[in-house]
Amino acid sequence: MQAAADEVKARLAPASRIGIILGTGLGGLAEEIEVEAAISYDDIPHFPVSTVESHHGKLIYGRLDGVPVLAMQGRFHLYEGYNGRQVTFPVRVFRTLGVDTLLISNAAGGMNPNYRRADLMMITDHINLQGVSPLSGANHEPWGPRFPDMSEPYDLELRRIAEETALEGGFRLQQGVYCAVVGPNLETRAEYRLLRLIGADAVGMSTVPEVIVARHMGMRCLAISVITDECFPDALEEVSIPDILAAAAEAEPRLTQLLRKVVSAAAPA
Ligand code: HPA
Repeated sequence: MQAAADEVKARLAPASRIGIILGTGLGGLAEEIEVEAAISYDDIPHFPVSTVESHHGKLIYGRLDGVPVLAMQGRFHLYEGYNGRQVTFPVRVFRTLGVDTLLISNAAGGMNPNYRRADLMMITDHINLQGVSPLSGANHEPWGPRFPDMSEPYDLELRRIAEETALEGGFRLQQGVYCAVVGPNLETRAEYRLLRLIGADAVGMSTVPEVIVARHMGMRCLAISVITDECFPDALEEVSIPDILAAAAEAEPRLTQLLRKVVSAAAPA
């Protein structure tokens, strides 16, 4: 981890306090960053090796409205065959580089009947149904405690800023519970019914491992889901990946506006 952080530091220059991980089909914010340096994941020691060809991710350092940010273009998922430690390795690198605020987006299926396709949902809490914690195994005490608290994983101040931004921007920002599953298959009707029953508003295949590790290391987190498909068990329609990407594209300008404002407001003075 230190070797990875040293390499990134040597190649990407100054420290930044804000880290960004962008979800599937939601890379638009990265295009607003004035990129000063980029490093391919392949060139970072011990970074997970990409299993999917054509999917070579990059770590970007640059400025968003003048604020220094580190952004991951491309993330790792359990369904690709990585384990929890690999998926969250970049978050540990972020923290070692001085990042203390983590902003995350993802694509998710909406199970709350009030949600509509292309809505934004701010995550207020989560349920981990991935069957494993990224913290399983020996605990490295300098990184964080063996049994980290999860009573409020999503930072209240960042949530307040996001809520205000949505109000000012005049768009709907749903708030709800995100459930993480492994994937890569979508859920059956019976599974959506179960997830709704246990208190989830949206379901997806990412984010929770990153947030657990970020909280382990004491970072503050904000996560926004884009509802890409309506997962109502009694009226379920078949969805395709192009449908999901189209919904993500439709929501993206609002997501970008939201995260931009949060970055400006959350930036250290
Ligand atoms: N289920 C799980 N993950 C998802 C979904 C879904 O319906 N939509 C987008 N990501």
